[in-house]
Amino acid sequence: MSDTTRKILVTSALPYANGPIHIGHLVEYIQTDIWTRFQRMRGHQCFYVCADDAHGTPIMLRARQEGITPEELIEKTHREHQADFADFAIGFDNYHSTHSDENRHYAELIFERNQAAGHIATRKITQAYDPQQEMFLPDRFIKGECPKCGAPDQYGDSCEVCGATYAPTELKNAYSAVSGAKPVEKETEHLFFKLGDFEPMLKQWTHAGHLQEAVANKLDEWFEAGLQEWDISRDAPYFGFEIPGHPGKYFYVWLDAPIGYMASFRNLCDRIGLDFDAWWRPDSDAELYHFIGKDIIYFHALFWPAMLSGAGFRAPTAIYAHGFLTVDGQKMSKSRGTFIKARTYLDHLNPEYLRYYFAAKLGSGVDDIDLNLEDFAQRVNSDLVGKVVNIASRCAGFLAKRFDGRLPASLENPSLHADFVAASEGIAQLYERREFSHAVREIMAWADKANQYIDEKKPWVIAKQEGREAELQAVCGMGIELFRILMAWLRPILPATAQKAEAFLGIEPPGWDSIATPLLDHRIGRFSPLMTRVDPKRVAAMVEASKEDLAAGADAAAPPSAGSIEPIAPTIEYDDFAKVDLRIARIVDATHVEGADKLLQLTLDLGDERRTVFAGIKSAYAPEDLIGRLTVMVANLAPRKMRFGVSEGMVLAAGPGGKELWLLQPDAGAQPGMRVK
Ligand code: MSP
Ligand code: ZN
Repeated sequence: MSDTTRKILVTSALPYANGPIHIGHLVEYIQTDIWTRFQRMRGHQCFYVCADDAHGTPIMLRARQEGITPEELIEKTHREHQADFADFAIGFDNYHSTHSDENRHYAELIFERNQAAGHIATRKITQAYDPQQEMFLPDRFIKGECPKCGAPDQYGDSCEVCGATYAPTELKNAYSAVSGAKPVEKETEHLFFKLGDFEPMLKQWTHAGHLQEAVANKLDEWFEAGLQEWDISRDAPYFGFEIPGHPGKYFYVWLDAPIGYMASFRNLCDRIGLDFDAWWRPDSDAELYHFIGKDIIYFHALFWPAMLSGAGFRAPTAIYAHGFLTVDGQKMSKSRGTFIKARTYLDHLNPEYLRYYFAAKLGSGVDDIDLNLEDFAQRVNSDLVGKVVNIASRCAGFLAKRFDGRLPASLENPSLHADFVAASEGIAQLYERREFSHAVREIMAWADKANQYIDEKKPWVIAKQEGREAELQAVCGMGIELFRILMAWLRPILPATAQKAEAFLGIEPPGWDSIATPLLDHRIGRFSPLMTRVDPKRVAAMVEASKEDLAAGADAAAPPSAGSIEPIAPTIEYDDFAKVDLRIARIVDATHVEGADKLLQLTLDLGDERRTVFAGIKSAYAPEDLIGRLTVMVANLAPRKMRFGVSEGMVLAAGPGGKELWLLQPDAGAQPGMRVK
């Protein structure tokens, strides 16, 4: 290793083991993979590790729902995740699991060291408890009526109708989303990590160049709000690691999740013979980078460095947060077919298209990035197929037919070549700073120059003229040489295409330094198209298939968040059902409600009476779309006083919420007032 060789350990956030990889996740894995491939091309020693995040209540409950053990569930997901990543050419050096011996070892070690240093507190709390399932309920698994606006079926932490946040104990008529039972309050002892002990260290660390500026500013807000003790234990039943010395208590999933980075690296060290401690001790000269989404900054920029510091390990060199993916300007949506799983994408399209498109969109900041499906096809076709691959196809044929694939012994235009070589370091700097979109723009500008060169030289004209053989070979050779450089620059983004190009050129995978050395007097192979155009029909088919995924109720229809499990309603008797008076109603008026973001005020005609109902459907409907329509209402719901007035019933709608909400509507012929049974 030379003095300039860096030791770099890179991670991406560990995906939850209860759902499939989707294109939103891929923003992160592709971003990280490009960066690590670039570092390796620079000749650095760079390892990229990741793992499945396998613990927690949602995983335990999903396994239960599927009638398998959590171990079976995470095993199955592990295989699927690995296949998805491999097919997107995400080049992990190791892909492990947080449910592993290494992770148990480091979780215990970090906990015990922090405990010995006095950073763990124990205290009794009261928490909601499901007496039927005999389990404590996380906030997201308690539902009920919003204490502020009265909207039904709201989660235990916040109301999706009025936006209020509150404690789950404030919900009215609360029920367990697991069993439907009424939760009771129960006392339990929990363990807390005293984050406040680390305030001086964290304040210093967060402003010492380890974070993006926007992230550091966000942290200042959190410091101002005060650092709370962090609840790191959960009661049985829980799928995780039992806490040493605290039978029946388990580490909260987020305690052992980041430790999974260490565990995965440890597993790699044991496999290939690396010295783990050299990378993790406080004075380590290795660099450690975590790529994460902006939603998990708190865990990575506060808890994680504090835990590490309390246990005598190094802190990360930097944390790189990225924004969220939108598709066609909107949140990924199952009904629109834009909640696209990695596997569904792979069934229809070349993964390198997406790698390129994300690279063309990604910068070093935390802005969200949009996948516009039309732009996607156009961009890939015009840049990669139209510009880059085209250079090779314009030159390779003549070389093969007339010169047996031999490249000339000298450069036709040394000064143009020197310009390309001179641009190489600037492009490297853009990669280094994660300014991928800027790098792509630069590279495409050079691709334009290469095409211009060929346009000016017109090899197809030279080829028809006698006595210009040497010139034809020189021009085509120059074209191939420029193509070689462009492909090397694109290699971190397009590893599979670059590999095909290398096979065609008959060269070894290039390092960044070798870009400067021209390929001369060398025999190249036969050219076959390296990449075909994006077929918009395939894009449409992918979107269609993503819609089907939902209709079929395929696994993981929901994003893998704690709230992703649809509550299982308890079984009821017919008599219970018969108590609900469902009626056809005509919406005779619909108006906005002053001061309410999500509500519309509906006037419903029930044939012989009129009702006022406040419905949380504003995100999906404009008042004028509703007037005159028939729908179904619960007519015998006790009137509820809301902030905006009294609501005298409820209308029925399906869907997860937001824009994805569909009001029920009867077939033609139904009349207001009819009973629905
Ligand atoms: N398991 C935790 C991370 C633990 S890391 C010690 C988790 N898992 S996740 O599956 O929900 O997300 C994994 C990563 O993908 C996170 O960094 C998250 O921000 C990112 N993304 C998930 N959905 C995303 C988009 N729609 N867009 C961009 N990134 C997204 O969080
Ligand atoms: Zn509310």
